[in-house]
Amino acid sequence: MIFLGIDTSCDDTSAGIVADGKQTLANVIHSQVKLHHPHGGVVPELASREHVRNIVPVVDEALRHADLHMADLDGIAVTVGPGLVGALLVGLYYAKGLTYVLKKPLVAVNHLEAHILSVFLETEYPSFPFVALTVSGGHTSLYHVEDFGRYTLLGQTLDDAAGEAFDKVAKICGMGYPGGAIIEKASEEGRRDAVAFPRAYLSKTSLDFSFSGLKTAVSLFLKKWREDALLRDEIGLNDIIASFQESVVDVLVDKAVIAAKRMGVASLVLAGGVACNNHLKNRLVATARSEDISVYYPRPVYCTDNGAMIALTGYHRFMRNDTAPMSVDVRAKYPIQDLMANH
Ligand code: KG4
Ligand code: ZN
Repeated sequence: MIFLGIDTSCDDTSAGIVADGKQTLANVIHSQVKLHHPHGGVVPELASREHVRNIVPVVDEALRHADLHMADLDGIAVTVGPGLVGALLVGLYYAKGLTYVLKKPLVAVNHLEAHILSVFLETEYPSFPFVALTVSGGHTSLYHVEDFGRYTLLGQTLDDAAGEAFDKVAKICGMGYPGGAIIEKASEEGRRDAVAFPRAYLSKTSLDFSFSGLKTAVSLFLKKWREDALLRDEIGLNDIIASFQESVVDVLVDKAVIAAKRMGVASLVLAGGVACNNHLKNRLVATARSEDISVYYPRPVYCTDNGAMIALTGYHRFMRNDTAPMSVDVRAKYPIQDLMANH
């Protein structure tokens, strides 16, 4: 069973082709980073226009990579939310057009579910149940995952997402966009304990996150640092950045392991764009191992937004008879709890 998966939820136009919810036959991603770079963040109108330009060539390229024709597809999966409305509409209406012409089933995919399931694109994946930490530019959440389609939200960010914090801190440090990879690289040259930035654990039992206070703390420290030559002799910009990254990683790792222990699961899954961060992966693996918990994460190209994870998720929804009518619409907000309400 071959599924095409389309994602235009934010600033990447992506199309993936996956066989039987396992084998990736193609995964084509057209990044818009260069377009949005001068603006220091994603400009929704520009993103939509760029998706319109790229959706047809990206899907064609995916078919070419897979050595398939449209007629070989058994179903079309597309992200309907959460995301930027104008951007999502491009993918959805293109998918509807394909569905209509090819007379193949349409499956509406929740982007958050796709990030959780992206680990199944790998040959090594956990058995159910497990706890998933999804960390991206728009979301930071912990889920208890009992099966395909069965998720319970354990905690989430109350303000900024972890990736958003990376992007904003890179911006105020004048280091460019998107910030995650830039910060990871700069941190390798810095001292992680140079500045004692706050760690927002909220309450002792809380599995929620908060990163806006940390962002403000970095901003205030930078102001002081820029005005104080003595401080600049003592602490470099890379030290500030490494200390910021350590604060984020400390909280993510601690809460993920607490969640896994609380739910009594043997496996943790790390997914979403921030899961590309090697320091985060290494710290999570080491801390989890001391509690006999195994950590699984997809390779970087499956961590950031991609069509293959949409195709895989679409396949599993289709296997549960969850196809979408032609009237299906996009959803700017689409919490995973809404998926459970349908079951
Ligand atoms: O999952 P994703 O591609 O898009 C969303 O659904 O948001 O995640 C993008 C986010 C950005 O905020 C980016 O800065 C962050 O992932 N990111 C990283 C790294 N690579 C990407 N954050 C930390 N370290 C990285 N190496
Ligand atoms: Zn994403």
